[in-house]
Amino acid sequence: MRNPTALLAAVGLAALLIGCSKPASQTETAEAPEASEATEVQEVGEEDKLKMLASLPAPYNAADMENGKRKFALCRSCHTVAEGGPNMTGPNLYGIFGHKAGAHEGYAYSEALKAAGYVWDGANLDQWIADPKSMLPGNKMTFMGVKDAKDRTDIIAYLMVETGAAKSESD
Ligand code: HEC
Repeated sequence: MRNPTALLAAVGLAALLIGCSKPASQTETAEAPEASEATEVQEVGEEDKLKMLASLPAPYNAADMENGKRKFALCRSCHTVAEGGPNMTGPNLYGIFGHKAGAHEGYAYSEALKAAGYVWDGANLDQWIADPKSMLPGNKMTFMGVKDAKDRTDIIAYLMVETGAAKSESD
């Protein structure tokens, strides 16, 4: 009775095949639910995120995602991370790793960032969020920086997972 649809089909088929059908009497009392189970999960679960974290290069694979998520609160007022998320004061950050800086569609970057020629990775993002102003004078990310190196690593790992840079094993 695990599959009510197949069962109903089997009963129907049995009725058609008069003379050689097996009795389906044992199943007729079942109050089989009609609706198929809606067990498919749309969003990536926490377990998948931990797998993605583990797949990152060191030191990000050993980062504290929870702390990264908490500390990303410092960035959230200006940045969204989800695919297709809106630009706010700062650009949407989906897909930044491995991509050219200053290139997110529909966002008006400073000339400084457009001309910087960075391709974002863990190392230069670490410098950027430590002190954007001294890394690139003339950029317009008015942010005082994250002083704690561990917090930066955790934020970057969180970002890698949330912005599509890490893949879950099932992908
Ligand atoms: C006060 C708003 C603000 C905060 C807070 C802020 N940012 Fe930004 N961010 C910006 C702006 C504005 C830019 C665009 C800079 C430019 O064009 O010069 C930017 C640019 C960036 C870029 C470059 C994006 C690209 O497409 O090249 C990254 C990466 C980034 N921010 C990450 C962060 C992270 C991580 C934090 C938190 C630790 C953070 N930002 C906090 C406003 C902010």
